[in-house]
Amino acid sequence: MTEHAVELALAALEPPARSPYLVVENVTKRFKDFVALKGVSLEVGEGEFVCFLGPSGCGKTTLLRAIAGLDIQSSGTIHQAGRDISALPPEERDFGIVFQSYALFPNLTLRQNIAFGLENRRMPRAAISARVEELLDLVGLKEHGHKYPSQISGGQQQRVALARALAPSPGLILLDEPLSALDAKVRLHLRNELKQLQARLGVTTVMVTHDQDEALSMADRVVVMNVGVVEQVGTPAEIYNSPATRFVADFIGAMNFFAGEIANGGEVHVGEVRLRAGRGLPADGVRVTAAIRPEDVRIIGADPHSDWQSANRVEMVVEHVEFLGSHVRLSLSHRDFRPALLVAQSSQELVRALQIVPGKPVEVSLPSERLRIYEDKAKGAGAHHV
Ligand SMILES: Nc1ncnc2c1ncn2[C@@H]1O[C@H](COP(=O)(O)OP(=O)(O)OP(=O)(O)O)[C@@H](O)[C@H]1O
Ligand SMILES: [Mg+2]
Repeated sequence: MTEHAVELALAALEPPARSPYLVVENVTKRFKDFVALKGVSLEVGEGEFVCFLGPSGCGKTTLLRAIAGLDIQSSGTIHQAGRDISALPPEERDFGIVFQSYALFPNLTLRQNIAFGLENRRMPRAAISARVEELLDLVGLKEHGHKYPSQISGGQQQRVALARALAPSPGLILLDEPLSALDAKVRLHLRNELKQLQARLGVTTVMVTHDQDEALSMADRVVVMNVGVVEQVGTPAEIYNSPATRFVADFIGAMNFFAGEIANGGEVHVGEVRLRAGRGLPADGVRVTAAIRPEDVRIIGADPHSDWQSANRVEMVVEHVEFLGSHVRLSLSHRDFRPALLVAQSSQELVRALQIVPGKPVEVSLPSERLRIYEDKAKGAGAHHV
């Protein structure tokens, strides 16, 4: 094969690159002295479903409102479909938006609510009518068009809000916690429905949420935010498996943290315990926080034939054994592990087979490829791949 042919063959293996549809560059937002967004940059591909995820007050809504033009950024630029929209008012932008509260007009029927955005566009009556029926059908409310918002459930109201946002066929859908006012069951159901609808329509979508399950299960990519900055952008698997910062490691899923120090060029010393932690570590003497998920802590004896058992073995003491239905949570202690107990996930079978009970020693392995190492000093310091 020629070099060119090899290149072509390799290129064919890559997933098709999505062209960036929405480009946010270095956006800062100040409210008087308070800086709500600090130089945020990100790209959303055409047809992509992106979630902004982060704790309350981190700036998710502020960023969404800047993208919509409802609250223009103090500095930085926003491009949509190649057009600089940074300074445009909302009515000159091309988006549909759904908020947490349904925000339907109570005195209008569902049909009239959905038609609202179309009537401003001077569409012919018959075309509006046909479009409204199409959207009612799309969100599964075909038989309910004559009703008023107060006559339908919260989940149904949110579907109408979505239909209203979709009606003018905008290039971008913005959703600010659209499911969080709903009860758990409706919420789960609507989560799937919304995801399927988005995939079917292929409309570029940005959804704000502070619910990590929602973000991980729905998004193509997740933007994790914290106090006005983007901590990490990645697929749900990347965010979960390789959290780039300590904040992300702590915010997403369950994680054990313990203090250590780099030594011998590639080891993490936790008191007397020496753990191998792969390559790309900070220099010797640097204080670090090591992190490992409970499901990655291996109990020695679980599978006598696997090779990971030889590495990073630590003898710990069983403090608590908690039965949690699908699994058993073990809390383990070791005099060198600070600040807290190490939590390991196990099964009923294993606990029985190994006779794991409080007070007894248990040997675990902390596989080096599952250990994440974060430098302690600089706030928001990046992770070192191990
Ligand atoms: N109009 C405003 N005037 C002053 N401060 C504001 C204004 N809007 C937002 N803020 C502040 O900016 C920060 C970010 O707010 P934002 O609403 O974007 O947070 P959020 O991530 O959406 O939080 P939540 O999950 O609670 O909705 C908060 O500290 C908030 O108090
Ligand atoms: Mg918000």
